[in-house]
Amino acid sequence: MTKIDQETIWSQRYRDAGEDYLFGVAPCRFLEVHRQLFESGATALLVADGEGRNSVWLAEQGLKVTALEISPVALEKARRLARGRGVDVEFIRTDIIAGEWPAVEYDFVVGVFIQFAGPDERVVQFDRLKRAVRPGGLLLLHGYTPKQIEYKTGGPSAVENLYTEDLLRHAFADFRIETLHAYEADIDEGAGHRGRSALIDLIARRPAL
Ligand SMILES: C[S@@+](CC[C@H](N)C(=O)[O-])C[C@H]1O[C@@H](n2cnc3c(N)ncnc32)[C@H](O)[C@@H]1O
Repeated sequence: MTKIDQETIWSQRYRDAGEDYLFGVAPCRFLEVHRQLFESGATALLVADGEGRNSVWLAEQGLKVTALEISPVALEKARRLARGRGVDVEFIRTDIIAGEWPAVEYDFVVGVFIQFAGPDERVVQFDRLKRAVRPGGLLLLHGYTPKQIEYKTGGPSAVENLYTEDLLRHAFADFRIETLHAYEADIDEGAGHRGRSALIDLIARRPAL
């Protein structure tokens, strides 16, 4: 799928949701469970951040947050969410595979449900994620495992886009893996993600120089 397709498809989904937020306005449980990691004043980059539920919550924890997203419709809703919650987030419209990223390294780089990338694009995507983490900083990734295909409660239908523990262990072998956990849970994140889900979490630290 080309980047134009992604932008068009996602913008239409966000537009169709109207005033609602497709994945809700609360952060994903993965970030909340690890809230003790997020020290006020730290910097965070959220990639493919959608309508802002995770970036806004991290800004509320006192972090300086930048969020990248391809859909202008999502960004407009994200800006509205941040305004309504009284926090500042730097929102940047970009294609995270082919477009520009800020030339900055962050304490935290966060990717939540960014499985629109197939295997080839994922190599580029993961490489860019890693480069954005400062030495000693953390990368957090949250997505679905192939079992999610059976549940049909969210996520892509392309099984090759989904993660296994082996895939992530291999892809992040140059980082220090602190959490790598595939599990099942009931989630309730707006109309987009609801019900029994096959999830996977990765937290990996970039080695210090
Ligand atoms: C499943 S949604 C997840 C959104 C958000 N991370 C969340 O959990 O609420 C996937 C997001 O990726 C965005 N996206 C797709 N392709 C992209 C690309 N090449 N660059 C940046 N964002 C992209 C979509 O617009 C959509 O907002």
